[in-house]
Amino acid sequence: MKTDSLPKFGFIVHCRSVKELRLALLRYGLSPAALLPEAALKQYCLSRGIIKDIFTFDRVVSDTGKVCQGKAFCVFLAPDQFLEHQTRATELVVQAAQMAAAWGAQMIGLGALCAVVGARGIEVAERCSAAVTTGNSLTVYAAVLQFEKIMRRLGIDPHRHTIVIIGFPGSICLAITKILHAQGYRLVLVSRQRTAFLQKFLESLGAVEGAIRVTHDVASAVRSGTIIFTATSTGNIIDQDMLLPGSVVFDIAQPKDVIFSTRPRRDVLIVDAGLISLPRSTSRHYRYSGLEVNDIPSCLGETMTLTLEQRWERFSLGRELVLDKIEEIGMLSRRHGFVFDDFRSFQKPIPAQTFSATAQALTGPANDQHGGNHEP
Ligand SMILES: NC(=O)c1ccc[n+]([C@@H]2O[C@H](COP(=O)([O-])OP(=O)(O)OC[C@H]3O[C@@H](n4cnc5c(N)ncnc54)[C@H](OP(=O)(O)O)[C@@H]3O)[C@@H](O)[C@H]2O)c1
Repeated sequence: MKTDSLPKFGFIVHCRSVKELRLALLRYGLSPAALLPEAALKQYCLSRGIIKDIFTFDRVVSDTGKVCQGKAFCVFLAPDQFLEHQTRATELVVQAAQMAAAWGAQMIGLGALCAVVGARGIEVAERCSAAVTTGNSLTVYAAVLQFEKIMRRLGIDPHRHTIVIIGFPGSICLAITKILHAQGYRLVLVSRQRTAFLQKFLESLGAVEGAIRVTHDVASAVRSGTIIFTATSTGNIIDQDMLLPGSVVFDIAQPKDVIFSTRPRRDVLIVDAGLISLPRSTSRHYRYSGLEVNDIPSCLGETMTLTLEQRWERFSLGRELVLDKIEEIGMLSRRHGFVFDDFRSFQKPIPAQTFSATAQALTGPANDQHGGNHEP
């Protein structure tokens, strides 16, 4: 098949920090503004609205033999600018999606906070000629599958533990809650506010007394359970010292919710949930966004899967995801050979010893709740 006849996707992303914003400006020779103080730099990027295609996947090969290609387009704003200036950020995401469509993309995926602004993809979909997806369905599928696989590897029966879910009433957390509640888990949900929407959602689950508790306090929540899913839009909310020994954290957020430490705990497992790898049939090596070779976020995996399937439809949009679609995209992605169990922590492979130390801390007697056990 000729390259230019391959089905194409676009993936819209943003810078993950101000540091990354500066580096990106320098790298692409876009502006001496990279050297401005932070406030002036952000103001410059906000008013200029810089968008650039920054990465090409020229040949993604599925295990079924199907092939697609695509490009990532970056909106040069930092994460906090997306949350503070949502109208402007949405405008720039729409422009980036239109650039991708003009390049030939028939499916557009929205990475990280690009999927949150504009009513979680709906506005972008309405203003772009190509199909749009947030990629959140595969993200939920990947996070739950990774949870199941890791529990098995640790030899833990999760039904004997309380599961904490942080980031309500966010799109990803709502779907994970529905799935885990239906499987009979005991849950603690962390929401900053108790809205009518959250109340209605809880009622719709029909939970029995004691099955679900809601709190606004992250610190107390992470000390009420050792299995934690976290997917907030703000990031950097969990200091590793807050965690109980033996905690297993599925950190889905971008930017990450668990704060990176140069003295990581030895007795906890922090998993980059939602991080997957390209099918092994893809022989080319892509180092996307500082990740290990051929690792990608699962929202990009959903975009690629829909492109391989040539399903030009609005797959995941809005706050409430459809459980059947989560299952469907998971099955399709697995059929194409995307890999869900090359586990990473802070983007690096997880040593076997971290699994055993965490399992030991979780099941062993020395469950000291204070201070934790650090790398020397
Ligand atoms: N790994 C991947 O492949 C992947 C894919 C997609 C998305 N993501 C990431 O996943 C995260 C969630 O995405 P989403 O689509 O579910 O976003 P969302 O719908 O905006 O949900 C985020 C939720 O987090 C809550 N929140 C923010 N700060 C909080 C805090 N300090 N404590 C408790 N809750 C807090 C927000 O509450 P309020 O309603 O009060 O603001 C909001 O309800 C984002 O970081 C996104 O970038 C990762």
